[in-house]
Amino acid sequence: QTVDWDAAAAGKAGHDHYMHKEIHEQPNALRQAISGRIDELAGNASLDIALDDRFLQAIDEIHIVACGTSYHAGLYAKELLEELVDVSTRVDLASEYEVRNGHDTRRTLVVAVTQSGETADTLSAIRRAKASGMTTLAVTNTVGSTITREVDDTLFIKAGPEIGVAATKTFVSQVTALALFATYLGRLRETVSACEGVSILENVRQLPNAVQSILDAEGRIRRLAKTYTDSDAFFFIGRGPAYPVALESALKLKEISYEHAEGFAAGELKHGPLALVTENTPVLAFLNQSASPEETLNNVKEVESRGAPVICLSTSGGTESFCDHTIEIPDIGRLEPLVANVALQLFAYHVADQMNRPIDKPRNLAKSVTVE
Ligand code: G6P
Repeated sequence: QTVDWDAAAAGKAGHDHYMHKEIHEQPNALRQAISGRIDELAGNASLDIALDDRFLQAIDEIHIVACGTSYHAGLYAKELLEELVDVSTRVDLASEYEVRNGHDTRRTLVVAVTQSGETADTLSAIRRAKASGMTTLAVTNTVGSTITREVDDTLFIKAGPEIGVAATKTFVSQVTALALFATYLGRLRETVSACEGVSILENVRQLPNAVQSILDAEGRIRRLAKTYTDSDAFFFIGRGPAYPVALESALKLKEISYEHAEGFAAGELKHGPLALVTENTPVLAFLNQSASPEETLNNVKEVESRGAPVICLSTSGGTESFCDHTIEIPDIGRLEPLVANVALQLFAYHVADQMNRPIDKPRNLAKSVTVE
């Protein structure tokens, strides 16, 4: 007698899709990303960075280059770097990156964020940066990848293998690694005190359990996804670090469900996108405490008065009069939008699952794009 053994199904460890498995792996992926990298007494991140401390103290500009989901992680990192390190940070889509005059290339650090370490656009941007004399750092998941051989230094995100084409656990791990890097730079440049360092790292340490609390609420998120699957379009709005998360949530939903989804900076809604809002376009709004939630609530009122269903992601109550549904997010400071993002990964997953989409391998997309 033989037993049929399906290697792919076994690899999914009882989940219907790799994406679902990887969403659920996030608390552990985060524990790995953080493990051994927090020096609580010193209020500092301990990273095995080979870049010279004197160079890191002297940099006056950071350029981040990345594609897709990694680009959104870069946008999130910009918020953290500019706030904690007080260094001007620009984030470019790798395919759009041009080295321009007007900055000291010897005092510029170029950071490539790439899960695979093989994305052609990102490799090409790094090569242009190197050719003009800039120091380069890769933030990647893949040991031995092409990018690690080309940059001056590498920070690994330690998320473990990701099979689903839509990136999930690697996004949270990228942002977490970059949050540790921002803390390290801030301590080095004395823009972050030991006391502030302790509090930032406390938020980092809280991440795995905060993400777990969202995973525990999956049943409710699945029901919400079911309610709104037949909508005309989905809009995501956020401010500050929640803006890149709004972009990422929309990307996730469009990649795997093929539904029309867009992310906007909450304040931009009234400058155009509001024309698209109807009773059949749910708006998912991040009311993160880290970026003027009252102003975002005003934007929520704008869409609510046009009859759009509103799903709010919020740390505090009191949103019932404007939000049709509220998903509660643990308050862990500037990393809270990262946790809210997990709720919307599950939302995207369940919309796509309702529609029977091939979630792990969406049409026309590849996990790693090796052509420019
Ligand atoms: C492809 C994938 C995306 C990914 C992007 C960047 O387009 O489908 O999910 O975000 O490449 O990949 P990287 O490996 O550079 O992070």
